[in-house]
Amino acid sequence: MKITYYGHACFLVELKGKKILFDPFISGNELAKEIDVNSIEADFILQSHGHADHILDTVSIAKRTAAKVVTNWEIHEWLNKQGVSNTHPMNIGGKWNFDGITIKCVTAIHSSGLPDGTYGGNPMGFLVMTDEANIYYAGDTALTYDMKLIPSWCNVDVAFLPIGDNFTMDAQDALTASNFIECNKIVAMHFDTFGFIKIDHKAVIKLFEGNNNTIKLPRIGESFTI
Ligand code: NI
Ligand code: MN
Repeated sequence: MKITYYGHACFLVELKGKKILFDPFISGNELAKEIDVNSIEADFILQSHGHADHILDTVSIAKRTAAKVVTNWEIHEWLNKQGVSNTHPMNIGGKWNFDGITIKCVTAIHSSGLPDGTYGGNPMGFLVMTDEANIYYAGDTALTYDMKLIPSWCNVDVAFLPIGDNFTMDAQDALTASNFIECNKIVAMHFDTFGFIKIDHKAVIKLFEGNNNTIKLPRIGESFTI
């Protein structure tokens, strides 16, 4: 599985021959200036919630690529009003099979207003389940006991977890989350972008290694295979 990091909580995952883009926030990210948002391709955009640091580039990428946007009901309606018609509304607890890629929406403990003040429904995380690999994208969330349910739905091969603290869980809670979800291949997100979420990289890596775990702190623009 090839993964490309576009900064903050935005990843492109290539799975089952499809390009799955999560929470595109690139043009507003000072740290992602070298990324050309107009060159990003996508078959699916998975939108965890409505905050600007997750949805800023969704409308432009969805219109240019015709990618199907999978998100909650309220954001689906909002996107339709912005002229994005290829959407699939879901909600927490539900799953849908998109030609061999099953997406299940799971709990995230956060909030979800849209940039123009529209109510954005509840935030979500995603399980993406295929016969190649299963991934868990937590979205913006606190640590929650609900994460213990995830191994009952699939074996997670790689998990994307926020670690920046202040708006989401920190690295210590992400370590606990990795135990709850029974996955020790963790990719970090939601760190360094703003002053409130700057982290000590060495301390985070040491914390995970000291607990027989691994965490990857990707560089913006980096592609890697897991
Ligand atoms: Ni948020
Ligand atoms: Mn956020």
